[in-house]
Amino acid sequence: MSAGLRFDGRVVLVTGAGGGLGRAYALAFAERGASVVVNDLGGDFKGHGKSSSAADKVVEEIRAKGGKAVANYDSVEAGEKLVQTALEAFGRIDIVINNAGILRDRSFARISDEDWDIIHRVHLKGSFLVTRAAWNHMKNQKFGRIIMTSSAAGIYGNFGQANYSAAKLGLFGLSNTLAIEGRKYNIHSNTIAPTAGSRLTQTIMPQDMVDAFKPEYVAPLVLWLCHETCQENGSLFEVGAGWIGKLRWERSLGSIVREKNHPMTPEAVQDKWEKICDFDSASKPRTIQESVSILNDVLSQIESEGVSMNPTSYTRSASSGFDPSKYVSQKLPTVVYNYTHLQPILYALGVGMSTQDPDHLKFVFEGSEEFCCLPTFGVIPAQASLWDGGLSSVPGLNIDFTKLLHGEQYLELYKPLPTSGSLTSESTIADILDKGSGALILLDVHTYCGKDLLCYNQFSLFIVGAGGFGGKRTSEKAKVTVNPPNRTPDAVLSDVTTADQAALYRLSGDWNPLHVDPGFAALGGFQKPILHGLCSFGFAARHVLKHFANNDVTRFKAIKVRFVKPVFPGQTLQTEMWKEGNRIHIQTKVKETGEVAIAGAYVDLTSTLDKPSAKEPIKASGLQSNLVFEEIGRRIKEVGNQLVKKVNAIFQWDITKDGDTAAQWTIDLKNGSGEVYQGPAQGSADTTFTLSDQDFMEVVLGKINPQKAFFSGKLKVKGNIMLSQKLEMILKDYAKL
Ligand code: NAI
Repeated sequence: MSAGLRFDGRVVLVTGAGGGLGRAYALAFAERGASVVVNDLGGDFKGHGKSSSAADKVVEEIRAKGGKAVANYDSVEAGEKLVQTALEAFGRIDIVINNAGILRDRSFARISDEDWDIIHRVHLKGSFLVTRAAWNHMKNQKFGRIIMTSSAAGIYGNFGQANYSAAKLGLFGLSNTLAIEGRKYNIHSNTIAPTAGSRLTQTIMPQDMVDAFKPEYVAPLVLWLCHETCQENGSLFEVGAGWIGKLRWERSLGSIVREKNHPMTPEAVQDKWEKICDFDSASKPRTIQESVSILNDVLSQIESEGVSMNPTSYTRSASSGFDPSKYVSQKLPTVVYNYTHLQPILYALGVGMSTQDPDHLKFVFEGSEEFCCLPTFGVIPAQASLWDGGLSSVPGLNIDFTKLLHGEQYLELYKPLPTSGSLTSESTIADILDKGSGALILLDVHTYCGKDLLCYNQFSLFIVGAGGFGGKRTSEKAKVTVNPPNRTPDAVLSDVTTADQAALYRLSGDWNPLHVDPGFAALGGFQKPILHGLCSFGFAARHVLKHFANNDVTRFKAIKVRFVKPVFPGQTLQTEMWKEGNRIHIQTKVKETGEVAIAGAYVDLTSTLDKPSAKEPIKASGLQSNLVFEEIGRRIKEVGNQLVKKVNAIFQWDITKDGDTAAQWTIDLKNGSGEVYQGPAQGSADTTFTLSDQDFMEVVLGKINPQKAFFSGKLKVKGNIMLSQKLEMILKDYAKL
C-alpha cells in the first residue's frame, strides 16, 4: 500500500478501463485506497463488438492485490448506468475519468456520417452523459474531480482524424465550462492530452515506442489532478513518457481596423495583417471576461477618435488640442435634491445599518427620538452633479462614462445633515490632471440648505485612457490621502455585506448597471456586479463613528478615502483603525481575500472618546492562542536565524472567537532573524490562516491535524497554501507547551 497521496474512501469511475490508459488509472487509484468502477464495453478499437472480459480482467488484477473494484460493461452512451454501478457497489461517486475511446480514421472526404457520429457519441456525448449522471452527487457532497481525455490531434489537428479531432477538442470546451460551473461546489474538471503506447497507437507507432510510452507515465498526473488537495481547475495538460506540460491561450495585441463613421473593409484588414498576427506584447487571456473586456475598449477608442480626450495614443491626444484650462473652474448647473426621511433610512440600510443593533435604530427608524442622518449621506445630494445635466453634459469634455473610475472621495461636514429637506449643490471642476494612463477630474461640490453650507465633497474621477494631453500631474486643490501609522491597528471592526448590498445601495441614486447587471459587469471585466465604492466608504465611516464617537453624528468632521480594489456583495468588510489625536486613520480590507479595498483613508472627528464605548473588537486577552504565539516568539528569538533560512515566509493568523476576529498575529520568518508580533503582517503575508482560538489549540496540541481542519472548513487558508507544510514543522517543534 502506498503512502502519500491517498484516495481512501473515494469512489472512482474510469471509463474504458479494460486496457491501455484506463487500466493504468484503475490500478493506480485502487493501489492508493480508492474503490474503483472498471467500465469497459470490450469491443475492438473501431468500436465493433462487445465483451465483459476486458473489464473483468482488470477487476481481478485489482482484487488480487487487495484492492476494491467492480466491473461495468455498458457503453459510455448509457452514462447513468455507469454511475448507478458506483452508487450500488460503493454508495457514492467522487471522481470520473472519461477515458473510453475508439478510432475511425479516414481522410476528410471519406468520412461517412456513421464514422463521424460514432466518434462523437463515444468521446464527446459519452463523456457528457457519464459526467452529467455524476454531477448532482458531486454537487451535493461538495466534492468532485473530473478528467476529460483530449488529444494532440484535437489541439493541433492530424491528417486523417477530422472526426476524432473535432470530438477531442470539444471535450476541452466541455471541461472549461464544467470548471466554471463546478468551482463553487469544489468540483474541478481538467483535460489531458496523453501520449501512450496502447492498442489505439499500435497502428501508428513502432513497437519500441509503444513499449517505451507506458500508460504508467500518464496515470500519476491523473491521480494528482483528482486528489482533494489539488486546486487545479479548467486546465489542459500534455503528458507522456514521464513529461507533463501545461497549455494556455495566447492572443496577439491585435489591431483596430475600423474608423468612426467609415465602413470596415477587407483592405483595412489586409493593411493591418502583420500587426494582427504579431505576437510581440501578446496577452494570455484566462477567462471569457478577460477576453471580451478588450472589445469595450475598442468601441470607446473608435467612438472617441478625433475628439479631445482620445485614449488611443499618447502622442495623438497630446497634439489633439485638448486644453484643460478651458474647463477648470467651470461651474456646473446647480442641482436640487429633495428628500424625506425615506432617503436617509434607505441609505443607512444600504451601508449595512441593521435593526439587529439597538444603537442603529436612530438611523433606520423615523420615530426614534434621536432619528438622524448618517454623516456620509452627504455624498448623496452631491453625486447628482455627475450625471444628467452635470459633468456628463459639459460641451467638449466628452467623458466616456464606461471608462470612469471613482478614484477617491473627500467629504467634509459643517453641520449635521437634516433628515429631510431640499438641498442645493453647486459644483465646480476644480482641476483636471494628466496621469498618463488617464485623466483625473477633481470635482468640488458644495451643498447648501437654504444659505447654510452643509457639506463639501470632492470627487476624484479617473477616466481610463484619457490621459496624455500634456497636462500637469498634481494639484494643490486635491485633498490628499494619508498613510496609516506603521503599527498594529488600535481597533478592527468587520461587517458582512449581503448578496443584495449593491442592489439596495443603488436605490440611493447611483444607478450604474455595473452594480447589479452581470452582463454589464462582464463587459467591464468583472466576474459579477461589484459593490459601489461609496457603499464600502459608508461601512468604513460607520465603523469609525461607532468605535470612536459612540455613533454621535455631531462629532463627525471629514472623511477621505482612496478606492483601491473592487468589493463583491457578500464579502466581509474589515476596517482597521488607528487613532492619532482626533484623526482616525483607516484601511478597509475584504476579509475573505485580505485585499485592501480602501486605502490611505482617514476620518477626522471633532473629539474622540478616550475609552471607546463600543464593544472592543480585539478581545486579545483571554485567548489561549496568545500563549502559544508568545512561546513561538521566544523560540524564534533563539533560533530565528535558521528558521528564516528554512522557511522564508510570512504567516498571518486571524484568530476568531464567537465568529469575530479576536486577535491577529504575524509570524515573520522572512525578514532579519524572524519575529512574532501581534497584528496583521506589515507588508503582506505569504499565507493567512483563519481559525478559532479553540481549533488553533487543538491543531497545536495535535488533536486535529491541520489538513483535516482545512477540509472540514475549520481552518481557512489564503495565499500560498504549500507553505503551510513548513508551518506544521514550526508549530510542532516550537510551540512545546
Ligand atoms: P485503448 O483502446 O487501449 O483503451 C480504450 C478503451 O475504451 C478500450 O478498452 C475500449 O474497449 C474502451 N471503449 C471503447 N468504446 C467504449 C464505450 N463506448 N464504452 C465503454 N468503453 C469503451 O486506448 P488508449 O490509448 O488507452 O486510449 C484511452 C483514451 O486516451 C482514449 O480516449 C483515446 O482517444 C485517448 N488518447 C490516447 C492517446 C494515446 O497515445 N494512447 C493519444 C491521445 C488520446
